[in-house]
Amino acid sequence: MTTPSEAPHPVAASTYPDDLRNLVESYLDTLRFSAIPDTEGIEEAMRYSLLAGGKRIRPVLALATARSLHMEPDSVLPAAGALELIHTYSLIHDDLPAMDDDELRRGRPTSHVVYGENVAILAGDGLFAEAVRIFCEHQEGDPRAVLDALVELLAAIGVDGMVGGQYIDVMERDLDADSLRRLHSLKTGRLIAASVGVVLALRGLGEPETIPYRRFAEELGVLFQIVDDILDVTGSDEELGKPHGSDERHGKLTYVSLFGLEEARKLAAESHRKAHEALAAVDGDPHDLSQITDFIYTRQS
Ligand code: IPE
Ligand code: IPE
Ligand code: MG
Ligand code: MG
Ligand code: MG
Repeated sequence: MTTPSEAPHPVAASTYPDDLRNLVESYLDTLRFSAIPDTEGIEEAMRYSLLAGGKRIRPVLALATARSLHMEPDSVLPAAGALELIHTYSLIHDDLPAMDDDELRRGRPTSHVVYGENVAILAGDGLFAEAVRIFCEHQEGDPRAVLDALVELLAAIGVDGMVGGQYIDVMERDLDADSLRRLHSLKTGRLIAASVGVVLALRGLGEPETIPYRRFAEELGVLFQIVDDILDVTGSDEELGKPHGSDERHGKLTYVSLFGLEEARKLAAESHRKAHEALAAVDGDPHDLSQITDFIYTRQS
């Protein structure tokens, strides 16, 4: 199988900060939502999708940002967990028959296939609400900084963020290159960028110091979705854990449908280069962030 790294800008397949991923995995495993027997079923559906082995890129990015800023990665786990809960809600809803109508996710039948559409919708809603609760109840820090971080997260998934991006995705078929970048930046990029942004807010950094991090995070978000578009064409169901060819089946406008595979690979290479360029300007120790950037570029799932 070809990967974006076979584009003009090859990079060795990268290692992933597995210590951070393990922290996230153990944290998510401790989360429980139901206090009474009548609601155990919805908790089961939420945990079915949450604990199905995603790459955990968003929470790992948050922990890596903390490390780069010389904070203890553990200290941002509630915020990181909230990012993953919200991401999982977005996947459950994205797969629904009224959206992308996909039946495989994270290597398992999708939520609506197992539990029915009604429960799948509620599982997504539940993950969203519990994410906000966990953030407010458990994230430590100066209350003003915690509130700023929460606003950063909610803004990234609202109308000028993920939900707006998903709206454009389902409505629009005729976009030019700039609009496509904007669509990607909203539907995927903003939550990825917020994975860095919430930690910047928790750290209470001044605006000028956040600029290189934000430039990096924004580019990383777009890179992530360009690679997602490429893998939809070049990957297999087994590798991806989700159905390949979903975009083409639904006539989605993607980097591959607009530019062709070869050009999409070049754009991924360019975006990867720009992300590293931005990272070189940050103040801190961005070793793990650099690894994640290469992983996002070379990933095959
Ligand atoms: C898939 O995200 C959905 C998009 C935003 C393109 P991921 O590729 O991060 O999915 P998981 O979390 O690893 O399953
Ligand atoms: C979905 O984008 C982005 C979300 C907000 C979930 P896609 O529809 O391309 O994600 P996949 O390919 O199904 O994971
Ligand atoms: Mg979609
Ligand atoms: Mg989809
Ligand atoms: Mg996709």
